[in-house]
Amino acid sequence: MVLADRLGRPLASLRLSVTDRCNLRCRYCMPGDDYVWLPRASILSFEEADRLIGVFARLGVRKVRLTGGEPLLRQQLEHLVRLVASRREIADVALTTNGVLLARTAGRLREAGLHRVTVSLDTLKPERFRAFAKSERHADVLAGIAVARQAGFANLKLNTVVIRGFNDDELCDLIEYGRANEAEVRFIEYMDVGGATGWSTDLVVARREILGVLARKYGPAKPATGAKDPAAPADQFVLPDGTRFGIIASTTEPFCRTCDRARLTADGVFYRCLYAEDGLDLRAPLRAGASDEQLAAMITHRWRERTDRGAELRLAVPERGALYQLAALRADPHREMHTRGG
Ligand code: GTP
Ligand code: 5AD
Ligand code: SF4
Repeated sequence: MVLADRLGRPLASLRLSVTDRCNLRCRYCMPGDDYVWLPRASILSFEEADRLIGVFARLGVRKVRLTGGEPLLRQQLEHLVRLVASRREIADVALTTNGVLLARTAGRLREAGLHRVTVSLDTLKPERFRAFAKSERHADVLAGIAVARQAGFANLKLNTVVIRGFNDDELCDLIEYGRANEAEVRFIEYMDVGGATGWSTDLVVARREILGVLARKYGPAKPATGAKDPAAPADQFVLPDGTRFGIIASTTEPFCRTCDRARLTADGVFYRCLYAEDGLDLRAPLRAGASDEQLAAMITHRWRERTDRGAELRLAVPERGALYQLAALRADPHREMHTRGG
C-alpha cells in the first residue's frame, strides 16, 4: 500500500544532506562568514544513513539525492553511494554538488554506482564567482563538469539560481555553455529559504521574465513534449534550435501539490518540507537501538499527518522578506538550507 500524506502525496523521494559544511559561501545560501555547525558526533555514519535509507525505501522511496552543504566534503562518499545504489528498491541515486571537488571524485562515484550528477553553476565569470561565492575555485568547477562528463555521467544538469543584478545578464551565455558541454541548464528562481537572509522580492527573476530574455535572442521556447515526472520541480523547455533547458519556478509557481520528497539532515532529523519548522529526530532512536519496524512506524505516522506546502504558503505572505534573520538561524541551524539540503 502506498504511504500518502493528507494531501494524497506519496513518499517517493529522499534528499539526504550528508554534511552541513560547505567550501563555498554562495550569497543565496550561506552569505555569512561564520556559522553554527552541527556537532561532529551527531553526524550520521554512512552505515547509519544507509540504514535509515533502507527504512525509507520500505515505505516507498525510490529516488535518493545526496546533498549538503557540499556533499563531496564527506571523505569517501563513494562508500555511501555504493551502499545506497546496491539497494534493490532504489532506482535512482543522484548528487547535487557545487563541483569544486568533482574532478577528483567523479570517476570513483561513477564506479560506485552513482546515476546522476547536478552541478551548481551560477556564473561563467571567475571574478563574479569570487564576489558571489567567496572562492577562487571557479576553474575547478568547470573542470569538474568536464571530468564528470568524461566519467560517463550523461544528462548532466547545471543549476543556476538567477538573481537580479547579479547573473541575469548571463542567461544566454549559460545556455551556450550547456549546449557546448551537453548539459541541461536549469534556471532556478531565487527562493526565500532559511539561509537566504538577503532575499527580497525585487531580486527574484520570475520564470516569465527568464523566458522573455531567452526569446529575444533565440525565439520563443516551447514546453518540451514527452512524459514528465509530475513531482519533478523543473519544467522543461525547448528552444527553436532544439536546445533543452529547465526552469524551476519554486518561488512564483510552487509545485507543492505534487511534492513527494522527504529530507534528512546530516544528523538524522527528518523534515517533511524545505520550509518546515519542526522535524523528527531519527538519530536518537536509531542510536538507542530502535528496530527498522519502529523507525518505519515513526516515519509513517509523520508522513500520514503531512500537510506541508511551504512555498505555496509563502506566496500569501504580504510584504514578503527573508524567511529568517540571522538570530533565528543561529538559534537552530536546522533552519539553514545548507543543513536541510538545497
Ligand atoms: P531531479 O528532479 O531528481 O533531477 O532533482 P531536483 O531537480 O529535485 O534536484 P536539485 O538538487 O537539482 O534541485 C533543484 C532546485 O530545486 C533546488 O536547488 C531548489 O532550488 C529547488 N528545490 C529542490 N527541492 C525542493 C523542494 O523540496 N521544495 C522546493 N520548493 N524547491 C526545491
Ligand atoms: N534559492 C534557490 N535555490 C537555492 N539553492 C540554495 N539556496 C537557494 C535559494 N535561496 C539551491 C541551488 C543549489 C542547490 C544546492 O540549492 O540550486 O544548486
Ligand atoms: Fe515540497 Fe515544501 Fe518544497 Fe512545497 S515547499 S515543494 S511542500 S518541500
